[in-house]
Amino acid sequence: MVIEGDIVIRTEGLTKIFEKGKKREVRALDNVDLEIHRGEVFGLLGTNGAGKTTLIRILVGLLTPTEGRAFVLGKDVTEDIDYIRERVGLLPQEAGIYDRLTARENLVYYGGLYGIPEEDLEKRADRLLQIVGLKDKEDYQVKGFSGGMKRKVLVARALVIEPEILFLDEPTTAIDTLGARVVRNLLKKLSAEEQRTIILTTHDLNEVKELCDRVGILNEGKLIAVGKPSQLEEKFKAANLEEVFTGLVTGEGVYGEGAL
Ligand SMILES: Nc1ncnc2c1ncn2[C@@H]1O[C@H](COP(=O)(O)OP(=O)(O)O)[C@@H](O)[C@H]1O
Ligand SMILES: [Mg+2]
Repeated sequence: MVIEGDIVIRTEGLTKIFEKGKKREVRALDNVDLEIHRGEVFGLLGTNGAGKTTLIRILVGLLTPTEGRAFVLGKDVTEDIDYIRERVGLLPQEAGIYDRLTARENLVYYGGLYGIPEEDLEKRADRLLQIVGLKDKEDYQVKGFSGGMKRKVLVARALVIEPEILFLDEPTTAIDTLGARVVRNLLKKLSAEEQRTIILTTHDLNEVKELCDRVGILNEGKLIAVGKPSQLEEKFKAANLEEVFTGLVTGEGVYGEGAL
């Protein structure tokens, strides 16, 4: 449920330049203005190198902006990052998992790094392992798990700190079709039952249509469109989101609209 006006993320002119002043300078984010509301499932869409991971890394305090500002839960990422880090969960694009630990141990160990008491963590692990459907496998070492099952452990791990915002960077990439389906179903369940703000990145258009309340399309660091999937299709007079995306990203324009 989206409470109008309750904005949990806001960026203003957010810009990230890597290798500034050098020949290989990259403008990974270019003047991005974005607002995300509490309870939304927001999809960041874009091809490889569009700036999706850079945006997430700034919002969780792993990178600092070059220009512009970013606010998470009302706090500036350059001023109150400790406050933010305690309240956001992250599933990184290339997340490591402790293969030798069991599913349960992975959650409890990770939560311990945040200083959450073990008694609380055991209770949270019970609930989360139930939610992700791994309760019966909780005492198995993760190394024998399939890609989809490992991803479920990682989603549960990101949730063990009970974050207000959950960031998932390509949660369904690099696992098989079935694993991706399992993770998508889990995310749908989380958004329905847990009421958390979920921000995910993907380059799968069907995935955003299935999961997301709103999407933002990034291209070469610029946020070139934001809205509900259906609104974007309508705005650009496109038959589907794929047409919106390819039209905008190739610069050929969407039918009836002309290139932006
Ligand atoms: N640490 C870095 N140093 C230099 N360039 C980087 C770094 N991280 C990302 N980039 C560049 O910034 C751009 C955006 O990257 P990224 O945010 O990872 O895109 P995406 O996640 O959408 O694939 C790319 O051109 C990438 O090569
Ligand atoms: Mg990325």
